[in-house]
Amino acid sequence: VASNATMERAIRRAARRIRRGRLVVFPTETVYGLGADATNARAVARVFAAKQRPADNPLIVHIASVEHLRSVAASPTAMERSLLQAFSPGPFTLVLNARDDLPRAVTAGLGTVAVRIPDHPLALDLLQAAMIPIAAPSANRSGEPSPTTLEMARRSLKRRGVTYLNGGSTRVGLESTVARLVGQTVIILRPGAVTETMITERFPSLTVGSGEAADDVRSPGTRHRHYHPRASVVTIEEAIHARALSERSGAKRLAVVGLDPDVGLCLSEMENAVGPAAMQVVVRRAMSLAEYASSLYRWFSELDDEGVQTIAALLPPNEGLGRAIRDRLLRASGAHPPEGV
Ligand code: TXA
Ligand code: MG
Repeated sequence: VASNATMERAIRRAARRIRRGRLVVFPTETVYGLGADATNARAVARVFAAKQRPADNPLIVHIASVEHLRSVAASPTAMERSLLQAFSPGPFTLVLNARDDLPRAVTAGLGTVAVRIPDHPLALDLLQAAMIPIAAPSANRSGEPSPTTLEMARRSLKRRGVTYLNGGSTRVGLESTVARLVGQTVIILRPGAVTETMITERFPSLTVGSGEAADDVRSPGTRHRHYHPRASVVTIEEAIHARALSERSGAKRLAVVGLDPDVGLCLSEMENAVGPAAMQVVVRRAMSLAEYASSLYRWFSELDDEGVQTIAALLPPNEGLGRAIRDRLLRASGAHPPEGV
């Protein structure tokens, strides 16, 4: 990791570049972002080109603090402000009415803008130094898992002329919670590390909904198939169901990923069916939900490198951070997203 002085120079250089309309890959606490000046339509167009991202999928705009909210959002309500403030800086994105001078590409013409204050010193330093709101989707080609290391971003984007800021592995590992306030209900458009429980505990007067979101509220990004490695992903609700995988366990290219002790149970189920000699499975296991979340995309990338063809993923319980993990696994498997998410 670079020294402070080297890092300061790198940030100043990145800030100059981004102000001139160039792209900068930078770390956040969730995943790496591919950033551009959110107020510059040509710069934003470069983001869509680099990612090969469909134009109907709007971008998250990053700001340094709620004081800068007015630079992107039109007349945020007091409740919207406190909601954003409560979980900022952090893995929380709030969809607000957009200022009409924001480039259309940022909002995909929806009239709303997704705003987030990232909890990472390099991201915050970059925002302070650049003095502009930064539109940044995850720094991967569209459809691939989000990068949690700089190397993953580099390999996915294969781009010259992009400035890279290295912050090591990202802490959370899954993309931010995306939410919108409608009346007294917080609608979760994409589950993340800021959970339903955290929101209701902090704001007892609000209810949280993910189901039956009206179509115009829904997050466009959730329509697209997302987050999948080259290998095909098969999800398993309970370890006991792993027996069905046993026939594939002899064929080298199977991986099992999940939480312990589920992974252990799953392996013994499979072994019971085919016998220990026939078992050849690559294993990745996490000791906690937080570790599962922070490792998942890196595992996908490593398993692809190892030539794994099928990844059997054990679904964690549908609570807390488990919701976000399940959501990404179900999307990666090509299953329909869970109702309303
Ligand atoms: O953690 C994160 O959120 C990362 C880091 C880099 O901040 N960013 C990220 O961006 O995941 P991206 O573009 O990969 O995902 C943005 C999601 C998409 O599902 C998109 O549809 C949704 O946010 N979104 C953006 N603007 C929206 C809007 N105005 N209304 C509804 N959904 C919106
Ligand atoms: Mg993304």
